Amino acid sequence: MHKNPPLIFVGAGGLAKELIGYFREAGLADPLVLLKDFEGGEAAEQNVFGIPVRDLATYDGDCRNAVLAVGEPLPKKLMYQKCEGLGLTWVSFFHPTASLSPLAQIADGCVIGPFVVVAGDAQIDAFCFLNAHAAVGHDVQIGPFSSLMPAAIVAGKARLGREVLAATGSRILPGVAIGDRCRLAAGATAYRDAPPDHLLDGSPARASPDVFNMRRRMKLGLPD
Ligand SMILES: CC(C)(COP(=O)(O)OP(=O)(O)OC[C@H]1O[C@@H](n2cnc3c(N)ncnc32)[C@H](O)[C@@H]1OP(=O)(O)O)[C@@H](O)C(=O)NCCC(=O)NCCS
Repeated sequence: MHKNPPLIFVGAGGLAKELIGYFREAGLADPLVLLKDFEGGEAAEQNVFGIPVRDLATYDGDCRNAVLAVGEPLPKKLMYQKCEGLGLTWVSFFHPTASLSPLAQIADGCVIGPFVVVAGDAQIDAFCFLNAHAAVGHDVQIGPFSSLMPAAIVAGKARLGREVLAATGSRILPGVAIGDRCRLAAGATAYRDAPPDHLLDGSPARASPDVFNMRRRMKLGLPD
């Protein structure tokens, strides 16, 4: 096993499980602990693949190096906000099979899965998640906390705002600008710009105000 510096995962759901597999496959040491938001509603598992799960709010361990292991933009951002004050140092994870251009800029706290391609000059902001087989073309810009699910494709010069979800197999055509907090449904093809807070569905995609996500955000008291 490699002697990678000890770290913890914030998140104990599906993405944490995927990451544990990637770590073990690469011969990296397991995270010491998975931190979970016990108010989040999920059943409180005591451990995942033998790794203990602890309540985020009561974490008092020494290890401050953390991977933000939450897949969807809104819960990811909420977890991040709940971690402010814990003094964590956010660490990125890049799967060894990912092809990441040395000319691309990838900010801290990102998680990049197997067989992802990021082309030259792409700019990926903090805490983005690029799941398996996602592809990002040249000159693309992706805002913080956005997530590309498996096989999502962002073509050259497209721009995604913050907290955008591009679900499995969705596509954003060249130069198209997608507003903050938009969600592309699985298989959607965005061929023209979309304003913030829209749900895009179908191919070609039709955009409608994402009332479900907006309601969720209002309930949580999030300003935008
Ligand atoms: C975009 C998407 C995420 C929205 O799904 P959702 O989170 O379940 O939807 P919400 O809970 O926000 O809201 C549910 C409502 O949104 C609407 N909705 C959900 N998906 C929709 C879609 N594809 N098109 C139009 N409306 C949709 C429905 O009207 C639904 O209302 P209902 O309860 O009356 O059926 C979903 O369509 C999707 O593509 N999921 C795949 C995500 C993925 O790739 N995950 C991979 C993980 S590895």
